[in-house]
Amino acid sequence: MLSALWKTDLIKSKYFVTGLDNSKKTASIAGMCGIIAYVGKEKATPYLLDGLQRLEYRGYDSSGIAVLSDEGVIDLQKCAGRLQNLRQQIGEQAVAGSCGISHTRWATHGEATDNNAHPHFDQSEKLVLVHNGVIENYQKLRDDLESKGHQFRSQTDSEVLSHLIGVFYDSADGGSSEERLVAAVRESLKQVSGTYGIAVMHVDAPDFLVGARLGSPLIVGLGKGENFLASDVSAVVAHTTDAIYLNDYDLVCLKGDEFKVERIDGGVADFQVSQVEFSAEAAELGDYPHYMLKEIFEQAESVENAFRGRLSDEEASAKLGGLQMSPQELRDVDRIVLVGCGTACHAAMAGEHLIEALARIPTEVEIASEFRYRNVPMDKNTLVFVISQSGETIDSLGALREAKRKGFRVLGLVNAVGSTIARESDGGAYMHCGPEIGVAATKSFTSQFTLLTLLALLLGRMRDMSVSDGQEIIKELRALPDKIREVLKQSDRIKEIALKYIDAPGMLYLGRQFNYSTALEGALKMKEISYIFASGHASAELKHGVIALVSEELPSVFVAPKDSVFKKNLSSIEEVKARKGPVIAITTEGNDELDRLADDVIYVPETIECLNPILSVIPLQLLSYHFSVARGCDVDKPRNLAKSVTVE
Ligand code: F6R
Repeated sequence: MLSALWKTDLIKSKYFVTGLDNSKKTASIAGMCGIIAYVGKEKATPYLLDGLQRLEYRGYDSSGIAVLSDEGVIDLQKCAGRLQNLRQQIGEQAVAGSCGISHTRWATHGEATDNNAHPHFDQSEKLVLVHNGVIENYQKLRDDLESKGHQFRSQTDSEVLSHLIGVFYDSADGGSSEERLVAAVRESLKQVSGTYGIAVMHVDAPDFLVGARLGSPLIVGLGKGENFLASDVSAVVAHTTDAIYLNDYDLVCLKGDEFKVERIDGGVADFQVSQVEFSAEAAELGDYPHYMLKEIFEQAESVENAFRGRLSDEEASAKLGGLQMSPQELRDVDRIVLVGCGTACHAAMAGEHLIEALARIPTEVEIASEFRYRNVPMDKNTLVFVISQSGETIDSLGALREAKRKGFRVLGLVNAVGSTIARESDGGAYMHCGPEIGVAATKSFTSQFTLLTLLALLLGRMRDMSVSDGQEIIKELRALPDKIREVLKQSDRIKEIALKYIDAPGMLYLGRQFNYSTALEGALKMKEISYIFASGHASAELKHGVIALVSEELPSVFVAPKDSVFKKNLSSIEEVKARKGPVIAITTEGNDELDRLADDVIYVPETIECLNPILSVIPLQLLSYHFSVARGCDVDKPRNLAKSVTVE
């Protein structure tokens, strides 16, 4: 497996201490329903609740826990709402028991109710299961089971799987309880189509857990006399740093001091115990009130981490050894496709501009969920990049697999080391931006942008970019961290602007060329954490329809640095002002041309045109952050969202 992992560049930061050794993996964050299970000698409940707390970013509409008590009874507690509700429900009454499973949910099938929360019993109430993923054929399975007298307590697809495993367990003959449970899991998984990461426990097989995965992440944490199953290593790193990243179709059996990984069909599994390197403080809030603010403020460092060790003064170029492509192979690329979802897709759009401008290679952006079902004609020298912070987004993974199926080389730009996209791609580059826990992506965007700049620089210097242009880009990249710090100093002023518009019914975001995607990203930030209508547009599109929305109540946020299209942006701002629309403008320090026109101006330091979005997006992140806080929204866990989307 390791050969599929990328070379991690030498980098030293408080988040990552990675060398060129791929067996060292850095804990990172992926999302959508979280599973944590424990078997060992200690009381399971505190481990499970702590793990759930760390996984809450994956889903937070309900949670639950099932512990097998020392008396051999399953104590199941679950409820809708945040984890705090579950903690209160359990109170001081946690049962003594050293084996348990738990779950924090992001609803797919069935509302966020107590009954729909996981774990789910089987019909006999002797077996419990937690599930992350989607069982696509659950309705048919449910109908069959109901016709045989099964009673379901929830509307979830997941409960079908617990009943099914129960049926196979009860009908299995011979063997120990543990063997029967494993056989029942295997048989049941043959019946389901869809995706799953599961943990299963049965009263007949105390201190024994079974897990399996297909399409939804699942890791094994190996401790001393205790073992864990979890959706993400962040849930277990407080207890162990030895982890196995399960592959699709792997099945694992766990006891406190034993583990066995096989394929679901009984075949031999190819797995490896990795040493996870994790700095607990990277995932802590510290003095910040919210993860989002902390992550916005980390960008001077995270951008630097993205380019550190990857710039070559001698060649006036970038070094991206993890792409695992020879200079000749890189020179042969005649088309690039960039794939991603949400913020990653916005970074891809910026990447299209960067690569076309700096390397002159035709580049297209594909929304991952569209790409995977569209038969995009691609030339054989096309290089595909999948961009993903979590490395687990199912649509991006689907796009990766589709491109690989067709024989294309697929590279990843990923933050989560060891994630599925990182493992399945042919090479790539890590963002090294540390855990991103706030649901709204912030520092991952600027890291993605930085990596795409490096890529454009590398490809450009292999074509017709001059030494001096290469040197200029390198110089400006190196200057970015200090300039980011300058922008961050304006947080309080941006807060004042946010408060001024606190009653706005929505916001328009406008930008051109390199900053068109910045405008889209600013609008996404605003709508996802503040729940107001916000949309991003290419500035000149205003007059083709959007201008009809302009009114005294609706602010327009213009990203208008002093660049080659500034005068064009200026005309668009004039058009909005002529219709009495309030204007917030982001422009370059020293440019006073907007003072007389815009209602509020935020200045960012000067840099080269193609790098401006890294500086200009930060005021937009801060604007949405302060706006959301002032409106009393849950900034880090906005409604209806999860950190990354591992279901279709
Ligand atoms: C927006 C946001 C999402 C993600 C998208 C892709 O703030 O966080 O739009 O960017 O779900 O996630 P990754 O990058 O993990 O593939």
